[in-house]
Amino acid sequence: MSAIYYITTPIYYVNDKPHIGHAYTSIAADVLARFKRMDGYEVLFTTGTDEHGQKIAKAAWEKNISPQAFCDEVSKSFQDLTPLLNLSNDIFIRTTQNHHQKAAQYLWQELQDKGHIYKGCYKGWYAVRDEAYYGADELIDGKAPTGADVEWIEEDSYFFNLSQWQQPLLDFYKQHPDFIKPQGRFNEVIKFVEGGLHDLSISRSTFKWGVPVPHDSDHVMYVWIDALVNYLSVLGYPHKDTVKTHWPHAIHMVGKDILRFHGVYWPAFLMAAGLTPPQRIMAHGWWTINGQKMSKSLKNTIDPVSFVKTHGVDALRYYLMREAPMGHDGNFSHETFIQRYNADLANDLGNLSQRVLSFVHKNACSHVPTPDVLTKEDHNLLHEAKKCLTLLRRYADQQAHSRMLEAIWRLISLSNKYVDEMAPWHLKKTDTQRMETVLYVLLDVLRMIGLYILPFMPQTATTLLNFLSVKEDERTFLKHPPLKPHTPLPAPVGLFPRIQSSL
Ligand code: MSP
Repeated sequence: MSAIYYITTPIYYVNDKPHIGHAYTSIAADVLARFKRMDGYEVLFTTGTDEHGQKIAKAAWEKNISPQAFCDEVSKSFQDLTPLLNLSNDIFIRTTQNHHQKAAQYLWQELQDKGHIYKGCYKGWYAVRDEAYYGADELIDGKAPTGADVEWIEEDSYFFNLSQWQQPLLDFYKQHPDFIKPQGRFNEVIKFVEGGLHDLSISRSTFKWGVPVPHDSDHVMYVWIDALVNYLSVLGYPHKDTVKTHWPHAIHMVGKDILRFHGVYWPAFLMAAGLTPPQRIMAHGWWTINGQKMSKSLKNTIDPVSFVKTHGVDALRYYLMREAPMGHDGNFSHETFIQRYNADLANDLGNLSQRVLSFVHKNACSHVPTPDVLTKEDHNLLHEAKKCLTLLRRYADQQAHSRMLEAIWRLISLSNKYVDEMAPWHLKKTDTQRMETVLYVLLDVLRMIGLYILPFMPQTATTLLNFLSVKEDERTFLKHPPLKPHTPLPAPVGLFPRIQSSL
């Protein structure tokens, strides 16, 4: 039986249309899902929309439509990201789905039956934009630390006994030193928990747009407890076997802004319900646009639909995965995009593939040539190509996407250097047998490069592997035999036309 790999994106709020920040989280998860599928794992990759709560109710009210109709419309624009960004998610969950609501109520009941929920009255600050409670000591100039407006609320509420979970959480963190990545973010979480935890208000009673609390229709669940349960309801929680097989392997890809919910509240809820916390929480950084925070009021958000239409999905996927090391913030600018596109895609990868494939097309009768005895240089390059996969596996387990790309681009640059040094255009005149060997080595390395870039740029990789006549069932990391001499090759075309920098 194959090993299980279960990866999730956060579920997106439907108060607004998707932007490049959402695309980033989903692409990062997709790359790992694709990589692990190619490496023989049984992968489950889930995403979806977070549709309840005051923020969504308010957005629907402002548009003068029912919350459900509003959610249906905006959720659709997130579902459309799957084909647009070439995401390979297996499930798209919506928290308004019946099975999810039942799962959330089941978990609530478990917590209540085990004595972790009590009724009280919440008096304190709340930021609707963040759907988060804040202590008075956390406010900065009367606002949430995120800059969101806060309002004072006083309402009947159910509480979760979070304060009791300080020590179990600290023990868990100690026993699982890789629970949260990067380490700096983990340290922040530990410090926050060491500072003491207050019980958490987990229901609202002043509006209705939420999952009803079991046996108390005056209350709806706090949207975060409802939302976090999505990671279980996609598995068929509570009754399906998938919960047993998949849950312990969960890897949550989240933005740094929602780490407290995932790194503190979620493991506490789970432990209280008798379940284990997820395996890993990877907290990524945030994207700014030309150095500024992305915001509706600044009208600087980048629409993934128009970006993909102009530049293609793979260029976007590559740029987002390469430009900012995972865990760090990134700055999106058209200048750096064009630089990366022209240097890495058009020049390094595009030129390598075009010069090798068109040379073979013209000088080796459009067939995979037959290699003669390999030299030290040939062995070295082939060895580097194979070794690259070991690095990719290691970095994939660290969710280190940009490192994976750096390793592939090192191989591309070694290959370009090999072309220059071997100069097949000279060999054509002096030693055709050696020329064939060099071309064979290059084609086989290109084949491995095609496999390695597949999780990042599925369209480009497919085109490249088609040019090399690689069979569909040989596009994996487990079974990928070298190219067979005499295999006919179709006529190649360029992968990435250069972008003029005036754009
Ligand atoms: N609904 C909650 C998540 C619940 S998960 C159980 C939520 N939704 S969100 O739509 O506001 O954000 C979803 C994800 O998008 C978060 O991981 C967030 O970090 C990410 N991003 C939103 N803006 C972003 C940037 N500007 N840059 C990078 N990621 C950003 O939070």
